[in-house]
Amino acid sequence: GKGGYDHYMLKEIYEQPTALRQTIRGRSNQLDGRVELEELPPGAFSDVRSVHLVAMGTSYHAAMYAQTLLAERGITAQAFLSGEYGSNPPPADDGTLVIAVSQSGETADTLSAIRSVQGTGAHTLALTNVVGSTLTRECEDTVYIRAGPEIGVAATKSFSAQVATLILLSERLSRDVRGGTPAATGDLLDALSVLPDDVQRVLDESTAESVAKAYHDSESYFFIGRGIGHPVALEGALKFKEITYDHAEGFSAAELKHGPLALVTDQTPVFAVFTGRNDTKTLHNVKEVRARDAPVVAVAADGYREVDDYADHVLRVPDTHHDVAGILANVQLQLVSYLAADELSRPIDKPRNLAKSVTVE
Ligand code: M6R
Repeated sequence: GKGGYDHYMLKEIYEQPTALRQTIRGRSNQLDGRVELEELPPGAFSDVRSVHLVAMGTSYHAAMYAQTLLAERGITAQAFLSGEYGSNPPPADDGTLVIAVSQSGETADTLSAIRSVQGTGAHTLALTNVVGSTLTRECEDTVYIRAGPEIGVAATKSFSAQVATLILLSERLSRDVRGGTPAATGDLLDALSVLPDDVQRVLDESTAESVAKAYHDSESYFFIGRGIGHPVALEGALKFKEITYDHAEGFSAAELKHGPLALVTDQTPVFAVFTGRNDTKTLHNVKEVRARDAPVVAVAADGYREVDDYADHVLRVPDTHHDVAGILANVQLQLVSYLAADELSRPIDKPRNLAKSVTVE
């Protein structure tokens, strides 16, 4: 059941600290900096020269996030919509690791992307929540995100658990591929270990309700961010449109001047995601939308005060390592979407036209 919550979505948002504890349990050793994914023996990735991530929807946003994490570590990686990958396959060979990211492990597009690399020599890895799902049978290896069952059509805790798992996987890959222990590791493992508590703090202290109350009757919403903030912006917009039925569009803050700015008015709230990297550039974009009188909601770290003068609302997240900051920002945006949809009395767990898993192409 819904355990006292009005909707599964809200229950699952609140389950994130527990889900993340399960995700990271036993997988990183802060004392010696080791990262262990039990399913994968040490050195499993030593032949990997490039990584393809294939996924749809929210899982695609987690894949985009991982593309940035891997690039930071010097690994050539690209996220693909699995629904495009199979029909327009990029070159893959025995140096390619293809990671299929799917909560359900049953998404038809993602299964067919994996089938399309059979025979190329590429190594296939499933990153999923569902034990024994079709994807785990089609891929050579599986890493579970261990989020627990997700019932709401809008994916929430699975995104957080996917990204946390992909952070660990990126660390493992960078060691196997490049050898040695990257300098950032200690800080990152510390940040991951306190992530469940940080998410709890976001849930306890969020002011998303005032944002949802102020803006739920606008007709169009924009979400912007850079780097890992870009997939978080896309995910914020996807969640918002799925459950509020209002138009919401996410894009890189870098794109703003190249078109979307034409639509920005005092009627279009803009959500700006700050993650601790290139924040000054994103702040510049915020100033541009302010100059068009757009209401601005910033999602920013406690310590980032520069934004205060330019935003109508700031949704705060605890200061943390850059690589995990996007998970915290996304939790704030989940709450905004949920609370706005609730203001509008939408059928949050079963939005029209959508199914929990899309088993046809
Ligand atoms: O089960 P999967 O992760 O493969 O599902 C992929 C998408 O269908 C899914 O994320 C969808 O976009 C959700 N409704 C997003 O909330």
